[in-house]
Order: sequence, then C-alpha cells, then structure tokens
Amino acid sequence: MSSPEQVGEGKHPARPPGAGVRKASVDLSLAPHAAPVEEEVPDQAVGEIGPTGRPLRFVADPPEVVHHGPAKILAICNQKGGVGKTTSAINLGASLAEHGRRVLLVDFDPQGALSVGLGVHPHQLDQTIYNVIMERDVGVQDVIMGTPVENMHLLPSNIDLSAAEIQLVSEVGREHTLVRTLRPVLDLYDYVLVDCQPSLGLLTVNALAAADGVLIPLECEFFSLRGVALLIDTIEKVRERLNPKLEITGILATMYDPRTLHSREVMARVVEAFGDVVFDTVINRTVRFPETTVAGEPITRWAPRSAGARAYRALAREVIAR
Ligand SMILES: Nc1ncnc2c1ncn2[C@@H]1O[C@H](COP(=O)(O)OP(=O)(O)O)[C@@H](O)[C@H]1O
Ligand SMILES: [Mg+2]
Repeated sequence: MSSPEQVGEGKHPARPPGAGVRKASVDLSLAPHAAPVEEEVPDQAVGEIGPTGRPLRFVADPPEVVHHGPAKILAICNQKGGVGKTTSAINLGASLAEHGRRVLLVDFDPQGALSVGLGVHPHQLDQTIYNVIMERDVGVQDVIMGTPVENMHLLPSNIDLSAAEIQLVSEVGREHTLVRTLRPVLDLYDYVLVDCQPSLGLLTVNALAAADGVLIPLECEFFSLRGVALLIDTIEKVRERLNPKLEITGILATMYDPRTLHSREVMARVVEAFGDVVFDTVINRTVRFPETTVAGEPITRWAPRSAGARAYRALAREVIAR
C-alpha cells in the first residue's frame, strides 16, 4: 500500500499525483427516488393574514389563452447565489405551463443549473445559447429543446457561455445581444423566463435589457437585504439607459422558515421596505427542492401536491395577474 507520502515516488508510482481525489470517471450522481406523500394543507382565503404578515390580496383567476404570444420576458435576477433563482425559473415556468401558457426557459448562467434541473447534461450539448449568441449561422430554434413539461421549452447553456461575457465586450450593441437572439421566437411563447447568473455583469445586463419585468427571489436571511438595494439601483440604470419598459414584477421571499424568529423578522423588514411589490406567495425552505434537482423535473410534477408545488402555482397566478 502506498501512503500519501509515497505517491509519485519510484519509477512506477502506484497512484499518480491527485489520483483518487478527483477522477472524471467517478459517478457522483444520486439515484432519484419517489416523492414522499405530504399532508394536505387547505389554501388560505383572501383577507386572511398570509405568510408575509399582510392580509392576502385578491388574485383573479388566470384567463384562458386563445392565441399565444407575444411573450412577456421576465428576468429572474439576484446577484447573490443560492437564493432560488433557478428553482423559481423551473417551477414558475412549469406552473405557468399548467395554466396553458407556452413557456421558454432561458438558461443564462454558464453553470447550467437550469439545464441540469430539467435532466439535461449541459457538457454533452453540441450547441447552446452561446452558439446562438456568437455564431450568425446558428438560429435560436436550432437550439431550443423540449422538457419533461408539456408547453415548456428550454434554451440550454453550459460553461461555454462564460466566454461570451468577455467576447461581447467588444461588440456593437453588446447589451442588446439577448433580445436580438430571442426576437425570432417571441411570438411562439407567452412567457420567457431568463435565469440569470449570480452577478451584475454583462450577461445580467443583457437579461435586464431584454426584459419586460424582473422577478427578484430574496432569501429570508439578513445578508440578502443589503444586496437588493444594489440590484434595484442597477435595474433603474438599465431602465434609464437601455430599456424604458423595464419594471420590477415582484419580489419573491424564498427559503422562508416560519418557525424561526429570524425568518419572520427578515420578512417583516422586506415587506416594510418594498411594500406591494412583494408577492403574497412565499416559498418555504424545504428539502423537497434539492430533491427535485436530483429527479431532474419540476416539483409540480415530482411532488404535485406538496406545499412547494402549491406555492409555485400560487406564484404563477400572481404573475399572470400582474
Ligand atoms: N425553498 C427552498 N428550500 C430549500 N432549498 C431550496 C429552496 N429553493 C432552492 N433550494 C435549493 O437551494 C440551492 C440553490 O437554489 P437555486 O435555485 O439553484 O439558487 P440560485 O439559482 O439563486 O443560485 C439548490 O440546491 C436548490 O435545490
Ligand atoms: Mg441559479
């Protein structure tokens, strides 16, 4: 047996340096398992005090759609990582699709988590959004793919997209690259949800320049509050300089734990600071969401009756009504 000190010694080392630490062939994936059965909790009525601490507002039933398009583009944005942007893109998208809306999810993060969350292996893709952006002969329709959800499509990305951020800097009209890319398909969809990367760099500015609205997931943690002021500042600059129609569609409180005083205090502060723009729907912290990533499908399919699925359906109703 070779001890760690012996590795690399001798003519034929038993293990090359670093072996056994990180090996590309090691499969680290978890086996998906069935969703647990959850207890049904009745929906709250209008006027009852909701999780934000305010009375729930009336939300109209979503009207049926007869003709699809032109799509409303929503950028799901927060420069902090791990706040629920990707989870919200997938599950809001799936819930909008349940309401008969045609939805395109745009993975605009080189990490490709949105693609992974829908069961796609991003490193195995020949073409991604990067090719559409950077190569004139690749059309957006060549790269859009189906998902496990009917009426919901995906424009995938992978690590290639990180190069675009640098390559775009020297382009004319660099902030409007995404909207140019999406224009040919806007009439085919009712909603385009752009899952942004955790930064306020050029890719995110592209998403804001393309969007009609911004949806800001905000983790119910003290440190999340500080970053939102900077984000709102950026949104205002983009509105003034690049995209006058840009609005804040809503702020979504995520990772809420009703049992902790801290979560409740942060929530009260968020509502006090941002008022009506905060959605009445709140997403609780639950392990069901990480589990859906392993399953590669939205919670609305994986655990359709779970509290998480119901929350994203309620969010979809609020989004349609706004
Ligand atoms: N409401 C939630 N409760 C618990 N875990 C969550 C929740 N929403 C998302 N997660 C998990 O937290 C991690 C980060 O979420 P993600 O949506 O990828 O955030 P972002 O896109 O903002 O980085 C993921 O592992 C995800 O499964
Ligand atoms: Mg993400």
